[in-house]
Amino acid sequence: MTIEQTAPVAVDDAALQQKAKDHLWMHFARQSVLEEHGAPIIVKGAGHHIWDSHGRRYFDGLSGLFVVNAGHGRRRLAETAARQAEELAFFPIWSYAHPAAIELADRLADEAPGDLNRVFFSTGGGEAVETAFKLAKYYWKLQGRPTKHKVISRAVAYHGTPQGALAITGIPAMKEMFEPVTPGGFRVPNTNFYRAGEMGFRADPDSPLSEQEQFGIWAADRIEQAIEFEGPETVAAVFLEPVQNSGGCFPPPPGYFQRVREICDRHDVLLVADEVITGFGRIGAMFASSFFGFQPDMITCAKGMTSGYSPIGATIVSDRIYEPFRHGTTAFYHGYTFGGHPVSAAVALENLGIFDEERLVENVRENSPLFRAALERLTDLPIVGDVRGEGYFFGIELVKDKATKETFDDDESERLLRGFLSKALFDAGLYCRADDRGDPVVQLAPPLTIGPAEFDEIEGILRGVLTEAWSRL
Ligand SMILES: Cc1ncc(COP(=O)(O)O)c(C=O)c1O
Repeated sequence: MTIEQTAPVAVDDAALQQKAKDHLWMHFARQSVLEEHGAPIIVKGAGHHIWDSHGRRYFDGLSGLFVVNAGHGRRRLAETAARQAEELAFFPIWSYAHPAAIELADRLADEAPGDLNRVFFSTGGGEAVETAFKLAKYYWKLQGRPTKHKVISRAVAYHGTPQGALAITGIPAMKEMFEPVTPGGFRVPNTNFYRAGEMGFRADPDSPLSEQEQFGIWAADRIEQAIEFEGPETVAAVFLEPVQNSGGCFPPPPGYFQRVREICDRHDVLLVADEVITGFGRIGAMFASSFFGFQPDMITCAKGMTSGYSPIGATIVSDRIYEPFRHGTTAFYHGYTFGGHPVSAAVALENLGIFDEERLVENVRENSPLFRAALERLTDLPIVGDVRGEGYFFGIELVKDKATKETFDDDESERLLRGFLSKALFDAGLYCRADDRGDPVVQLAPPLTIGPAEFDEIEGILRGVLTEAWSRL
């Protein structure tokens, strides 16, 4: 592996902190914390490590933000970006084309399951979701069914911040200040098996199916119920992540996506797999839709496509959806100046070349059971209620009482996650996510390059910090 390990970059931390306090507006963050305490300033990355402005090294347990799948510090990707910028830094794909976007579209169509052969580029995940939402509405209009415009998604799911994507996002606290967002978004239960009972699921002890299988049918049927409540002639699409991130890594129960596919077909509703996180090896396949064996009508993706060395997003579309656009005067009046940017597209191709050469997807598939096993060792701690996920994408749900699954109230959650855990994990050398958009979870999504020794390291750090967290409760 060609990852450079050089000394951290020297920066003037105090001067940067002051400029950040004066001028930087951080995303999804309390500015008061920045203005009072400053922020960790990350200056360098190499492999699965990052360094801060004081020269301290951390394990990047979240790949930045589910992004740096091939790891930090890849000179080869930096050189590709420089080469492309020198050759052709920018040209739009509005009626003209350039080689990098063409080659990347070809590669993505090869990787995507079934007949997902057409690629519409954007600059990130939210735009990819927005594109899929607009395309779903337009597609049905072109079919002579203009009332099919609503979208269904799952509780607590995050699908991005544009107002259309926000209508699909299922986290009320992220939307209320911007209401009314685009109308037409409806929510169904997610696939949190740990909390299935609280969502109203009851397993039938006499069923020949496992509890998980029964839950999969129950959860998929909630989608059919929502379609029927709203009227199938009003529903355009269902948006689902193959493994839901927000809430803490909910994998699909066995059979779930197969049943969702049947339901969508029965009611002429498009199935969109939001693979912004799950794409590009995270789950142990290039796309998680293939891993779980279902065929979506569209895939939205971004993040890991370039491992973060340059931004890009894409909506990959089936032949059926593309068909009306192949002829005559019909055009999709939608796009982004920087969509399919030459530098990003060239970097994405090179990044996927690294995936091939270093067998990163296979590495995840082979080692995921060991990662899971390392994290499951933590279930001996009283605070660890559940460990769940797939591939290199796991969530650890924290509880107050393991026997009853009692969770923390808002105050406790605030003290535990914001007041203690995030900082304590970081201080202990692990950058990961402590999140309470659903019940409190610690989330891990490290670079796809790591293996068993690093799993043990992650487990060791978590064990120490979670033990301390429990003693403070
Ligand atoms: C599933 C999913 N969809 C969409 C988005 C939005 O992507 P972006 O932040 O690139 O706009 C995210 C971001 O985390 C995501 O996880």
